[in-house]
Order: sequence, then structure tokens, then C-alpha cells
Amino acid sequence: MAIASSSCSSSLRPLHHSLFPKYPSFSCNSQFRPPLQFSSLRFPFRIRASSATALEQDTSTLHQDAFEVDLFACPICYEPLIRKGPPGFNVPAIYRSGFKCKKCNKSFSSKNMYLDLTVTAGAKEYTEYKPVGTELFRSPLVSFLYERGWRQNFNRSGFPGPDEEFKMAQEYFKPAEGGVLVDVSCGSGLFSRKFAKSETYSRVIALDFSENMLRQCYDFIKIDNTILAANLALVRADVSRLPFSSGSVDAVHAGAALHCWPSPSNAIAEINRILRSGGIFVGTTFLRVSASTPAIMRPFRQRILQNYNYFTEVEIEDLCTSCGLVNYTSKVQQSFIMFSAQKP
Ligand SMILES: C[S@@+](CC[C@H](N)C(=O)[O-])C[C@H]1O[C@@H](n2cnc3c(N)ncnc32)[C@H](O)[C@@H]1O
Repeated sequence: MAIASSSCSSSLRPLHHSLFPKYPSFSCNSQFRPPLQFSSLRFPFRIRASSATALEQDTSTLHQDAFEVDLFACPICYEPLIRKGPPGFNVPAIYRSGFKCKKCNKSFSSKNMYLDLTVTAGAKEYTEYKPVGTELFRSPLVSFLYERGWRQNFNRSGFPGPDEEFKMAQEYFKPAEGGVLVDVSCGSGLFSRKFAKSETYSRVIALDFSENMLRQCYDFIKIDNTILAANLALVRADVSRLPFSSGSVDAVHAGAALHCWPSPSNAIAEINRILRSGGIFVGTTFLRVSASTPAIMRPFRQRILQNYNYFTEVEIEDLCTSCGLVNYTSKVQQSFIMFSAQKP
């Protein structure tokens, strides 16, 4: 199975070495060192992406804090980001790393334990409000309540519950084992934690637009050393602008999220873009109507829920297909649907 970003351990001379500063080594155990800033001295590079072939080898400067071309890409120009920081793909190492776009030079760093890879990262004055399906989950209260009762309510609509949903998703993801998995719209990380703990994937990225969901996610993982040390990153990003190079990801999971996205078609087009050929997308959502919807409820659900991105089975298949995915399959239980599709 192809792993999108297999590691190359040689130390390399940076193409952009004039951009970066020298700085002291970090202790890998400290979780509270500030994220790195970039400036201008020569530095050793380490590479983890096929797109990094322009960098030249420099065997003289092996160092614990290395530059590497990362899995992450700039949300503006989709060029791979250069990473400077301690090695490893886990929450503390990424928190202590600085990232910079090779092309547009925009810098990205971590805030409150998550790496902010939104287009507006670093903006000082500009604030943008998204539709309610996105803004609702940015609330600290909703984020706090999400795994403390809110999510459990989904069972009444036919969701089988996190353990069973995880098992079902893992079945679909078999062709992606050992690869990179992005848990898009991860919320407080209910499934990201399970994916990371399963050790099925080389890297797991827990990604959401909500700052407060990501803070909750960190609060859950910091009490479990096995997850803190796992190959897991917390990233803030918009599903319509995913910070990954095209074809760099093996699996995308989006639990209970489709109905929350501002534009499901833009989101699935983005998911298609980042998946490698043969990569798998698995999503769950609430159906507007299904075979089990009582006749008396149908007109109401058809009319009202249409305005809230709740779809029928046929519409979801059509959406995936029109965004270029193939091999669509689904499982339905009351209003719950888990669907899967593949990048050709
Ligand atoms: C109902 S929660 C799902 C959480 C989790 N995946 C689950 O299965 O329980 C929906 C999530 O979608 C996220 N979301 C909404 N709009 C988004 C966007 N534009 N980009 C990324 N995530 C978004 C919300 O922040 C929220 O965490």
C-alpha cells in the first residue's frame, strides 16, 4: 500500500536556507515551549514528501531540530509547507514547530495546542462568520457538551454509537491501512483518538474549523499518554480549503459532518483533491428521509430539512459521483447513513 509521505532520513540543504534562523534544541518532553518563529540562517533539512526533490543533500549538519517538507500544504497556494522544529509527528512536536509556505512565505504556528492552517491564520483585524452549521460548533459550551451528551443523542436517529461506527469505518478503510488518515470535522476528536490508538495508520490528522472543539480534543488526549505520543496532529482548517497537497492522503473520515458544511460540494471536491488514487472517503450524516421515515413526517422533513443540507441517499450518491468519486456504497439505519466512495 502506498504511503503518501514516506520518510526519508537524510539530512538536506534547504532551498530556502536564507529564510531561517538558528535556534536552540528543544527537550522533547516539554509541552509548553512556544511555537517556533522563522528567520534567516542556514539550517539542515529533512524531507518527507516526494514533492521535496528540489532540496539538496547536506550530510554535515544532522541536528535534532530539522527542517523538512511536511505533509501539510499552504491553504492559499497548496504548496508543501517547510517545517522547522523537533522531529516526530505527534501533538507536542508539532506544537513546537514552525511552518512556512515555500511559495508565498506565509507562516503558520500552533495556538492552544492546535496548528492553525486556515487561510486567515495570523489575521489581526479581519473576522469572518460562517453559516450556522459551522459557527454553532465554535461555541465553548457546545464544544464542551459535545461528548458529554450531545453526541449520544444521535443514537435516537439510528446512529449505532462511536464504537460501532468506528468498526464500520475501519472496514471501509482497509485499503488505506498504513497510510495517512485525515479525520475532517473531527469535533472533539471522538474518532481521531480511536484512529490514532488503533495504530492502523502512519499518521492521523484531527482537523476541525472550531478552535474550541480542538481545545476539547487536546483536553481529552492530554490525559492519555499513548495518544499524546501517537502519530496524531491537531489542525484547524476549513473543509473547503484543506491544507494538504493533491493526492497526498490515503483516507478521509468525516463523521456526522456533511450536514454542517457550508458547501458539501466544495468540501467533497476538496476531499477528492487530497486523496491519492484508490484513497477512501467515509462519511456519516443524517438523512432527510429514508425508508423508515413515517409517512406523516415526510412532507415536513422533505421541506424543512432541505434548507439545512440534510440529503436523501440518492442525493448523497449523486454528490459524491459529481465530485469525481467512484465505487459509492452505503449503510442505512433509520436516519443514519454511513457512505463510502473512492478516488479513481
Ligand atoms: C456534529 S460535529 C461532528 C464531530 C465528529 N466528527 C463526530 O462524528 O461526532 C460537526 C463538526 O463539523 C465541524 N465543521 C463545521 N463546519 C466546518 C468547516 N467549514 N470546516 C471544517 N469543519 C467544520 C464543526 O466544527 C463540528 O466539529
